[in-house]
Amino acid sequence: MDNDHRPDDTGPGTHTANSGLPLIQANGISKTYNHSGACITVIDNLSFRLDCKETIGIVGASGIGKSTLLHILGTLDRPDAGQLVYSGKDVLLLDDTQLARFRNRAIGFVFQFHHLLPEFSALENTMMPALINGTEKKTARAEAEAILVRVGLKERLGHRAAELSGGEQQRVALARALVQQPDILLADEPTGNLDRGNSDRIHRLLMELNEEMGMALVVVTHNPELAALVSRRVTILNGRLHELNNGLPVASSFKG
Ligand SMILES: Nc1ncnc2c1ncn2[C@@H]1O[C@H](COP(=O)(O)OP(=O)(O)OP(=O)(O)O)[C@@H](O)[C@H]1O
Ligand SMILES: [Mg+2]
Repeated sequence: MDNDHRPDDTGPGTHTANSGLPLIQANGISKTYNHSGACITVIDNLSFRLDCKETIGIVGASGIGKSTLLHILGTLDRPDAGQLVYSGKDVLLLDDTQLARFRNRAIGFVFQFHHLLPEFSALENTMMPALINGTEKKTARAEAEAILVRVGLKERLGHRAAELSGGEQQRVALARALVQQPDILLADEPTGNLDRGNSDRIHRLLMELNEEMGMALVVVTHNPELAALVSRRVTILNGRLHELNNGLPVASSFKG
């Protein structure tokens, strides 16, 4: 467990949002997968800028590289080439331990498939990032309970993840990503399994957290309501990002 709170040992840390620099500046990112001897270039010399507090939606067909890009932006996957600069610091220069510490403090990540620990309760799953960061158990518990209430799971705190429905698991995964009040939430289809009422609740919550604490948001979504709420919409064409205007790619290249 990491009890070390020195602010500068991992480059950018939590709540770096006031530096005046872009929150994320990705330069010339590329990612190629090798499969059965064939190379598939999914991300190809892609550049991307996200300002502090900005909200952006990544939309588009299955297989175009949305999750791949999100994993790279979330530092869960390293690109083959390129720079990933958070608030002025190239996080790809950090070693794996430093990178994990940075990620845990600054980034909330919601996976397309939730990756909860099935034998642990909703509350325990949600407390986990705070405990890993050295937060006292009582505080971690209070923070986890508060965010679980906000995603509508007040009545499910003690249920093991394996005993929750798909949509409930999705909301626990979201609570776990939000409990540390990250600078940025990267979310892969966060309302993909939810009914209209719960989707609306989560959309409202994301926009409130953006307003209240300036949390930036990059969300992969097929949900038109959520796509309409974010400030910019983009898609991936031939491995690069293209800004969308009324659902269509605009002619000029994406701002980098
Ligand atoms: N580990 C891997 N090895 C080989 N190919 C991969 C790997 N991960 C992804 N790919 C390929 O990269 C492409 C992009 O995958 P990705 O998961 O990023 O798509 P996506 O846009 O998120 O799709 P979806 O909307 O279905 O979730 C796909 O063609 C996929 O087969
Ligand atoms: Mg995907």
